[in-house]
Amino acid sequence: MEKEKKKSVTVIDNQTGKKFEFFIKHGSSGPSVVDFSTFYSKTGMFTYDPGYTSTASCQSAITYIDGEKGKLLHRGYAIEDLANNSDYPEVCYLLLNGELPDENQKEKFRGILTNHTMLHEQILRFYSGFRRDSHPMAIMVGIVGALSSFYSEKNYDFSSIEGQWVAVSRLLAKMPTIAAIAYKYSLGQPFIYPKNELNYSENFLHMLFSTPCGEYHPSLARVEALDKLLILHADHEQNASTSTVKMAGSSGANPFACVAAGVASLWGPAHGGANESVIRMLYEIEKEENIKEYIDKAKDKKDPFRLMGFGHRVYKNHDPRANVLRKYCYSLLEEIDSVNYPLLKLATKLEEVALNDKYFISKKLYPNVDFYSGIILKALGLPESMFTVIFTVARTVGWISQWKEVNENQTTKISRPRQLYIGKDERAFTKLRDRNRTSKKKMFPGTVLGRLFQT
Ligand code: SDX
Repeated sequence: MEKEKKKSVTVIDNQTGKKFEFFIKHGSSGPSVVDFSTFYSKTGMFTYDPGYTSTASCQSAITYIDGEKGKLLHRGYAIEDLANNSDYPEVCYLLLNGELPDENQKEKFRGILTNHTMLHEQILRFYSGFRRDSHPMAIMVGIVGALSSFYSEKNYDFSSIEGQWVAVSRLLAKMPTIAAIAYKYSLGQPFIYPKNELNYSENFLHMLFSTPCGEYHPSLARVEALDKLLILHADHEQNASTSTVKMAGSSGANPFACVAAGVASLWGPAHGGANESVIRMLYEIEKEENIKEYIDKAKDKKDPFRLMGFGHRVYKNHDPRANVLRKYCYSLLEEIDSVNYPLLKLATKLEEVALNDKYFISKKLYPNVDFYSGIILKALGLPESMFTVIFTVARTVGWISQWKEVNENQTTKISRPRQLYIGKDERAFTKLRDRNRTSKKKMFPGTVLGRLFQT
């Protein structure tokens, strides 16, 4: 029987008429890929895709997103089912191991997360080096990076399964502690140690809001709200911060240092920093009668204003996480904090106006996970500056699961993209005395540096 011909695409160079064949690879769901790994060696050219709008950087079995249908699956389970029926430690176990844990596995995993929540006492001294008014994300980048000096290659082989589990367990267990101390530091309050008898989200709220003068006992509604937020932010395929962690990890760098790079990437307002920007935007809009003015600003190409919490590189339909959060916002605010109700009502109205606007419809701009998360975080009593920190705690499991998946497959290569060079051709060196003083090109035009350099 004739061997089934492998599916392929043929690229024809119209200048030379040369044809180049590249094989198609199929996954279990979603778009297939064209394997262009030999494109340069065959054609002498690079593929070009700044921002990776059409590029698959890897293959992975952890998370699947269908942007057109607004679907998000973790190891095959729909995010709605996980948010409504699971808890964050279970979802961590699922992302890391591929299956939901049974009772025994769940108990053992909970023990791992519980028994590594404390930080080395010397790490606590790093906090006092930060200005009191530092953004907590600046502290997170610093402290997570510093963990690489306490868990270093001297003592651990992170290419081994044991070493990888050290990185996984310490990062998952310690991130809430690191985050809570960053918050306490910004308040000038004493640090609160974790308590082993509390579950993950309870312990996190305890460290955030207890003081030596009084224990904080969060209601079930508050613990559940935080747990759902952590689940909804756990992983999201090859987003910017996850790709940053994997790019750093491809050189064999220390996993704690790689996650610190991911924290830095998540901080950006176009990524995880959007939840903070959404609340600030809602405060600026202030009331429903101002919504139209801001929708018009978002549509005005000359205006840098964007509707924060709207749009997504992958979702061209509803972000399923925003749907869960919207529903949950209402039930939660009824229970814990109707004070933020006006903010929620304004957000819902803004969403309604935007989703009926031709511009947003044509560009397929829907609310993303950041649009509603800030309202829940405010209801939990956190300031905007801590919103992306909570996102960081949640996404740590996504970063480290994807890092682990790559490291399990030992044949990975270092990530090393190429470029389209548009700079100067090779030219002879000009001695200082021969350089023309009235240089044509203005250095740093219109800036302080420019004035410094211009004669
Ligand atoms: C997260 O990748 C992930 O999975 C991220 C994330 C995760 O879980 O890891 O889902 C978390 O980062 C969510 C996104 C949070 N960011 C924001 O809410 C910031 C506001 N959104 C945008 O900046 C933007 O939508 C991005 C960054 C999210 C996506 O940018 P893309 O895919 O590069 O799209 P684009 O900027 O090219 O926009 C396409 C068009 C543009 O118009 P044209 O140039 O084609 O005329 O849509 C417009 C944009 O101007 N547009 C917006 C808009 N977002 C896009 N216009 C107004 N308001 C917006 N929010």
